[in-house]
Amino acid sequence: MKSIASAPGKIILFGEHFVIYGVKAVLCSTDKRITATSQFVDEKIIRIRSSFGEWNMNIDSLNNLENVQQKFMKPFFYIAKKTLMENSIKQGIEIVIESEIPPGVGLGSSSAACVAVAASVNGLFHKLSKDEVVKLAIQAERTIFEQNSGADASVSTFGGLVSYDLKEGFQPIPSRNDLSFIISNSAQVHNTQDVVKQVRKFKEKNEDLFNKLCNEETDIVNNAITSLKENNLNKLGSLMLKNHELLRQIGVSTEKIDLLVHEARKTAHGAKITGAGGGGCIIALVDNSNTKDTLDNLRKISDCFITKIDYSGLQYA
Ligand code: MEV
Repeated sequence: MKSIASAPGKIILFGEHFVIYGVKAVLCSTDKRITATSQFVDEKIIRIRSSFGEWNMNIDSLNNLENVQQKFMKPFFYIAKKTLMENSIKQGIEIVIESEIPPGVGLGSSSAACVAVAASVNGLFHKLSKDEVVKLAIQAERTIFEQNSGADASVSTFGGLVSYDLKEGFQPIPSRNDLSFIISNSAQVHNTQDVVKQVRKFKEKNEDLFNKLCNEETDIVNNAITSLKENNLNKLGSLMLKNHELLRQIGVSTEKIDLLVHEARKTAHGAKITGAGGGGCIIALVDNSNTKDTLDNLRKISDCFITKIDYSGLQYA
């Protein structure tokens, strides 16, 4: 028996980093997915396979997850361990992860993988509800990234265009529009945790400035939610540029990212970093009138693709 589940990546429209300090973020899931396929195997091991390689862990060693050599694999072994314990079973499982989402560039691949693996491994026993999956996926991510806000895993599980904050969690944004974004990849791979740590240091050194920036971000996000409901793309675009400025001020942009934003804003409604920054991707808001010009220009200096909002979130095959 195979248990298959897939979950979408995400882009953050507004509020990355500030969300960790209580500000609301706006994000959506995208039309690129990660699929996890789990099945029982005869050996007493957890085997994880992906295009990056194969990792095996003996079931009896799952109690010592601190010993996992490749730290980025820890969340998946954690999910396997918890699932086996909860079902009081000591049977080996193979998990195959297939991804359409470029890794390490702010498009939510880690969270989507945790969501898909949590749903797929548990599906071998019984299907979890979306609420149960997101809880497990966030716990798993926090084994390596404690400050994780949970925003990425939430939007990957439930899908759609949403706001998210630490207190209220996830709220769908009723919006009539069908937004299109160009994602342009700086090809500078980042480590989200390192960039989040760097921002924490910035905050600790500049408490007053950081509080002021959080207030500015709150205004941007509130205006953005209104503009989304009014389908006002020009306003949204200019709010994205303002948000990019704040991200520059907290030190998460790079020369390449600024160049991409500079080129994108020549024709798009607006553009900004999406995700942790320190490299990664920018998003440019476009519609039928400016997609081609924006794509042609950005393609001269980066890999780009168009993305639309996914409304399905986690899916079981
Ligand atoms: C990463 O996609 C978004 C951050 O705000 C981290 C988080 O929310 O956990 C940088």
